[in-house]
Amino acid sequence: MRLLVTGGAGFIGANFVRATVEQRPDVRVTVLDSLTYAGSRESLRGVDSQIRLVEGDITDAELVGKLVADADAVVHFAAETHVDNALADPEPFVHSNVLGTFTVLEAVRHASSANPVRLHHISTDEVYGDLELDDPARFTDATPYNPSSPYSSTKAAADMLVRAWGRSYRVAATISNCSNNYGPYQHVEKFIPRQITNVLTGRRPELYGTGANVRDWIHVDDHNSAVWRILRDGTAGRTYLIGADGERDNLSVMRTILRLMGRSADDFDHVTDRVGHDLRYAIDPTPLRDELGWRPEHTDFESGLRDTIDWYRNNESWWRPLKDAVEATYQRRRR
Ligand code: NAD
Ligand code: TYD
Repeated sequence: MRLLVTGGAGFIGANFVRATVEQRPDVRVTVLDSLTYAGSRESLRGVDSQIRLVEGDITDAELVGKLVADADAVVHFAAETHVDNALADPEPFVHSNVLGTFTVLEAVRHASSANPVRLHHISTDEVYGDLELDDPARFTDATPYNPSSPYSSTKAAADMLVRAWGRSYRVAATISNCSNNYGPYQHVEKFIPRQITNVLTGRRPELYGTGANVRDWIHVDDHNSAVWRILRDGTAGRTYLIGADGERDNLSVMRTILRLMGRSADDFDHVTDRVGHDLRYAIDPTPLRDELGWRPEHTDFESGLRDTIDWYRNNESWWRPLKDAVEATYQRRRR
C-alpha cells in the first residue's frame, strides 16, 4: 500500500508513522508536512530513512495533486490544533483546517477518476461542543455539531466538507472524531506536556480556572490503532468516534502529574480561565468496539502518564528548544 500521511511530523501523525513503519512493512509511507512550529523532523528520527518526507503545504493544490495521484490511501492529520492559539489568531486555522482539507478532498476526487484513493480524515470530539458535568450522555455519531472555538469550528467545517465530497463526488472517505490524546512527541504548549516540562524546568504548573473541566484521555497509540482499524475495515461515508473511557477532570490530572513527579499536591497555580472554555468532552466508543472489534490497550491512565513523564525526562533535547518561546507566549497573552 502506498500511504500519504499529511501532518506526519506532528504529535499524532509522527506516532502514527513510527508505528506504521515498525508494524507494517508492506506500507510505503510518504509524509506531507509544512513543518510549522508544531511539526519537526526530529519526531521522525530513526524512521526517516524508511519514509519519504515532503516539506510542503496542504493548500498547495499542485503538490497535493501529485502526491495523492501516487497514493492508494491518504490519512489526513495536518491541522492547526491548539485552542489557545486559535483564540489569539484564528486565520491559520481557517487556512490549514478548512482550505487545506478542501485541497486534499479535491486532489482525492480528481485522482480517484483514474485509480480509487481511500481517504481517512482525522477530527476531534470538540466539534460536538461540550457537555454538562452531570450529564449522563456521551458524544455519539448522532450528536449535533455545536463547536465553540475557532479551532473546533474549523475542524467541524472540514468534517462537513468531507461528508459532502463523499455524497456529491463519491470520494471514499471515513472520518474519526477522537478525544484528547497524550503520549510522546506532544508539543509542550498542550496541557499534559506543558505541566511535565514546567516541573522539569523549575516553573510552576498552571491550571485554568478551578480545573473542574473534564477531558476524555486516550493514549496516542490507541488512537492510531483505531485509525488503522477504520482504514482497513471501516465503511466509506461513516463517522467513527474514538475514545477509551478516560474521563478525568483537569485538577485530578494535575495532581497525578505532581504526585508521579514527587511534588506536593498544591504545587501549582490557578490562572485566569480560557475564554469560552469547554466544560466536558466524553466519547461513546461502542460502535467502534462492536462493529470493528477495536479495543484500547493503554487502559491504565496512571501507567501511561508515568511512561509519558519518563519520555519527557529522557528526551529533553526534543522539547527544550521549544519551551522558553511557548512560556513567553503564554505570559505575553496573560497581560
Ligand atoms: P500537531 O499540532 O501536533 O501537528 C500538526 C501537524 O500538521 C504539524 O506537523 C504541522 O506542521 C502540520 N501542519 C499544520 N498545518 C499544515 C499545513 N497547512 N500544511 C502541511 N502541514 C501542516 O497536532 P496533533 O495533536 O498531532 O493533531 C493531529 C490531528 O489530530 C489534527 O487534525 C487534530 O485536529 C486531530 N486531533 C488531535 C487531538 C489531540 O488531542 N491532540 C485529538 C483529536 C483529534
Ligand atoms: P489542551 O491540551 O489545550 O487541549 P483542549 O483544550 O483541546 O482540550 O487543554 C486540555 C485541558 O487543560 C483544557 O481543559 C484546558 C486545560 N489547560 C490548563 O488547565 N492549563 C494549561 O496550561 C493548558 C495548556 C490547558
